Amino acid sequence: MLIKSAQDIPSSEITPESVYHERRRFMTGALGVAAGALASAVAPGRADAAAGDGLRARAPAGMERSAPAAWWEGKFESIKPVEVGGSFYTDEPLTPYRDVISYNNFYEFGTEKGDPVANSGAFKADPWSVAIEGEVDKPGVYTLEDILKPHTLEERIYRLRCVERWSMVIPWIGFPLADLIKRFQPTSKAKYVEFLTLLDPESMPGQRSRFTTISWPYREGLRMDEAMHPLTLLAVGVYGDYMPPQNGAPIRLIVPWKYGFKSIKSIVKIRFTETEPATSWNMLAANEYGFYANVNPEVHHPRWRQDMETRLPQTLFSNSRIPTLPFNGYGDQVAGLYSGMDLSRYY
Ligand code: MTE
Repeated sequence: MLIKSAQDIPSSEITPESVYHERRRFMTGALGVAAGALASAVAPGRADAAAGDGLRARAPAGMERSAPAAWWEGKFESIKPVEVGGSFYTDEPLTPYRDVISYNNFYEFGTEKGDPVANSGAFKADPWSVAIEGEVDKPGVYTLEDILKPHTLEERIYRLRCVERWSMVIPWIGFPLADLIKRFQPTSKAKYVEFLTLLDPESMPGQRSRFTTISWPYREGLRMDEAMHPLTLLAVGVYGDYMPPQNGAPIRLIVPWKYGFKSIKSIVKIRFTETEPATSWNMLAANEYGFYANVNPEVHHPRWRQDMETRLPQTLFSNSRIPTLPFNGYGDQVAGLYSGMDLSRYY
């Protein structure tokens, strides 16, 4: 992957994360008050819109978003706010919304960090369906509405650590992958889960580029116990709003203790397999990108060290270089998944 320095964006230009924090304080304080207040207290998107000072209003010029998909609108009413101090929370400063939606890796739209927001105009996240295949009792092609219907959406604040050594802190909205897996009832042969991104060269210019090195569609995989781990999230929103195309609309994976490339975007297929699935970056350079890809400050990439990272946004005045933590700081929760494994071999 290419390493780019972070864009230097004046914080005065856009500060939706402070609006978001304010709203969270309001939301937390409002919980437990009148039943009527509860509906807005647990509805970040709505509270935001009602205040008339929403993230949408503050989106930088050229990044205004189109109307959200119909299925998403009704879901606002029931979003569960993150539990402050819980396992799905961090009090580290949130990466500004502008950086989250404009500094992206989504090679289907190009290899530069600004390409996904610039080149995803023709991408359509609605209608959408996801095929459930392989070692599973209830295979089928399900609409996104069907996929989401039984799940309560919840907010989670996770660190995202890219293998390229930059990191962000992002408030996602989604639901545990484990809950979805249980619904479709994998057979006893299902040892891994494979995920595939949409293949659509018409709306994804990176897929029709003559210079592409990835064999499309982008694919990723997890071991079954990793997929069932409570931290593993299927995300449909970010910053109290629906997922923009450049971040993987309408539904993507978030595996916070692994390098960002495991967190596959715009998923159209989930396949349960007996054997370890092939994964895009591993197919491209197996000595650089392993199947496990757990964040590990002791196992370096062949071309760069992995013990430090730059927390975005990087500005002229802030020292945003910080040490990288084992499992991206989630070791207490996930190290047990790998006990007895040589992590320098299974990188
Ligand atoms: N998913 C697809 N389909 N294509 C990609 O190029 N890039 C990955 C991951 N998921 C990628 C993808 C990488 S390298 C990272 S770091 C994260 O998405 C970045 O997610 P973000 O742009 O939302 O920060």
